[in-house]
Amino acid sequence: MERFFFLALGLVPGVSLVIYLFYKMAPGLMIRESRKQFDMEETLQQLQNSIFLMIVFVALISFPLLMSCGLSGNKNESNKSLKTVELIDKHPGEIMYKRHCLACHQRDASGIPGMYPPLANNKVISGDKVELIGIVLNGMSGEIEVNGEVYNGIMASYRNLPDKEIADVLNYLRSGFGNSADSVTPEDVKGLR
Ligand code: HEC
Repeated sequence: MERFFFLALGLVPGVSLVIYLFYKMAPGLMIRESRKQFDMEETLQQLQNSIFLMIVFVALISFPLLMSCGLSGNKNESNKSLKTVELIDKHPGEIMYKRHCLACHQRDASGIPGMYPPLANNKVISGDKVELIGIVLNGMSGEIEVNGEVYNGIMASYRNLPDKEIADVLNYLRSGFGNSADSVTPEDVKGLR
């Protein structure tokens, strides 16, 4: 909407200048035509005038045009910065989850039935910190049943991750996906290594 406003703002002085120029130049041109003589001084003066007017015209029209382009550009910019804010605002555990866990447990933490257990709505996730941290630090194998589905897979140890990253990813899971539990601190993780 603002784009059209600025475009109109540019067109009004632009169009009036063109009309003004036409009326100013036309009689001169016609007279010269009829006189059929070349007046160097007058032509130069006229040229100077028209160059000056053209500069004013370009300046007047380019400002609103630039503004209208700038505005539409700004919209994308603000979208971009919104995305950046979203990225910054993201839970630090989300990045870790995507990097280390998503491949098996899936983006929405719903897992793959019979292969990778869901971490959403999972009692182990919102349960005892010690057991949960232990799973991530030591990995896991053997038969388990989650929400009526049996899993008998192997999950590797994530002991090589820093304490804070393990705490972040567990807090991310414990504070969302239908889970709700108190947070895990890097000290908790350190104490269980
Ligand atoms: C290579 C696939 C894979 C990746 C990657 C993976 N897991 Fe697992 N995870 C499994 C499997 C398979 C099991 C079930 C093991 C079993 O059957 O005993 C499991 C089980 C779990 C459990 C226990 C669930 C329960 O109900 O007992 C938790 C908690 C868990 N994973 C968390 C994580 C976290 C956190 C990450 C990322 C840091 C992660 N997993 C990455 C495959 C994976």
